[in-house]
Amino acid sequence: MFEANINENLFFPFSEETLLSELLRRAGENISMPCAGNGTCGKCKVIATGSLSSLTQKEQTILTDEEIKNNIRLACQAKATGNVTITAETLAPVVEIDFSWEDYPVPYDYTDGLVIDIGTTTIAAILYENKEIVKKITEENYQTAYGADVISRIAFDKEHPNLLSNLLQKQISEIITRCDTPKNIVIVANTVMLHFLTGQDVSPLGEAPYTLTDFFGKEYSIDGVNCYLAPCISAFVGADITAGILASRMAESKESAMLVDLGTNGEIAYFDGSALYTTSTAAGPAFEGAGIFMGMPAKPGAIDRVWIENSEISHHVIGDAIPRGISGSGIVDVLAVMKTIGVLDESGCLIEEHPLCQRDHHGKPCFRIPDTDVMIRASDIRKLQLAKAAIHAGILTLANKVDTLYLSGGFGAKINSNNAEAIGLLPKNFAKTTKALGNTALFGGTLALFSKDIRKQMSELSRNVKSIPLNQNPYFTGLYIDKMQF
Ligand code: FES
Repeated sequence: MFEANINENLFFPFSEETLLSELLRRAGENISMPCAGNGTCGKCKVIATGSLSSLTQKEQTILTDEEIKNNIRLACQAKATGNVTITAETLAPVVEIDFSWEDYPVPYDYTDGLVIDIGTTTIAAILYENKEIVKKITEENYQTAYGADVISRIAFDKEHPNLLSNLLQKQISEIITRCDTPKNIVIVANTVMLHFLTGQDVSPLGEAPYTLTDFFGKEYSIDGVNCYLAPCISAFVGADITAGILASRMAESKESAMLVDLGTNGEIAYFDGSALYTTSTAAGPAFEGAGIFMGMPAKPGAIDRVWIENSEISHHVIGDAIPRGISGSGIVDVLAVMKTIGVLDESGCLIEEHPLCQRDHHGKPCFRIPDTDVMIRASDIRKLQLAKAAIHAGILTLANKVDTLYLSGGFGAKINSNNAEAIGLLPKNFAKTTKALGNTALFGGTLALFSKDIRKQMSELSRNVKSIPLNQNPYFTGLYIDKMQF
């Protein structure tokens, strides 16, 4: 029998040669594996010492000499052949909820329960007892390995029916079990995720006329456990936005307001002072760090801020750790800095003659953040360009300006809005006030967890919102092309 020492706090026995990723999985440690273990994304890096298999061809391609010297391995490639020590950057809890009960004067019917927000990329859950948070869970959606966004998941489902549905049901069922299966459970998610969760056909959501089999807004049995699934608005705008509109209280005054969820689906809600409109832009997960070479969640080791000070480029790393990657807010900042110093041109190309334009270990041009090994590649810039153009164009398709702009999502809570305007992620001078609200889907879900009245309000709201589809909208398409420029 061998032993794996995981993150210096867990000793895990195993009996035969095993992939490090499998050992971590069995030990309950969840690491990011966007390429499903194909050895191509480089996101499953761990520090490993002890009895290990030799470097594979794929590891030699992905890892730098420096990383190899520092015992970094790809968990999906390296095998433990005896006793090992593994230090893994597991997905740390990043649930953020800043909630004041006094702000929501509705009758409360419950004080305990579990609220789950199923994002396309991340699943977050909070368990309450006596209205106090007793457990927070954040983990990557297992489906991420089968496509970055809902469109690619729908396409995958066509070829492999039920696989994604079973995977999501299993993951949610595991979370519920880990929280001791409370009686009161509320789930918020986008429309596609709720269809997968309830085992319903997702194909009508992926092709015109984009119809829903179910709007939800009632109780369902998930693996034998009753859960309230919050109501959706359209094929593109899900229960997460219904919950977000309620949590932000954006439609409660006569002033105009917009709620932008800077997540994978780029959902937007707009209130013009009397009516609510929603849309969704399929921005992709680039600003959540997914699909970006050195992108990572906002956790220790991530560069989360970059700025120019006394003509020098400075950066901040979460947890004062050695920089290992860059989070969404850091990506926005670094693009703004690259634009300012002229290493990035308007069309999104790296200026190879610029003294700060370097070559990565494959000889490709990149921008390396000074004093770190963290780099932004041309291919990263391309993905970010598509994401920011989609969000910017989506916003302007609904309104030219608003009184208040609410940004939701973990990434939205941390971005520098001046830099977001500088790189064209948000329109310039669009709102009188900009407020970051964190995870509004979880806020709204929590309200629904405790109040039957809120559940009723959600259902009414979801029926009264006008949905604006952007596909084949020539105004949106024109803006989208235009807003690719930096
Ligand atoms: S999971 Fe992508 S390289 Fe290991």
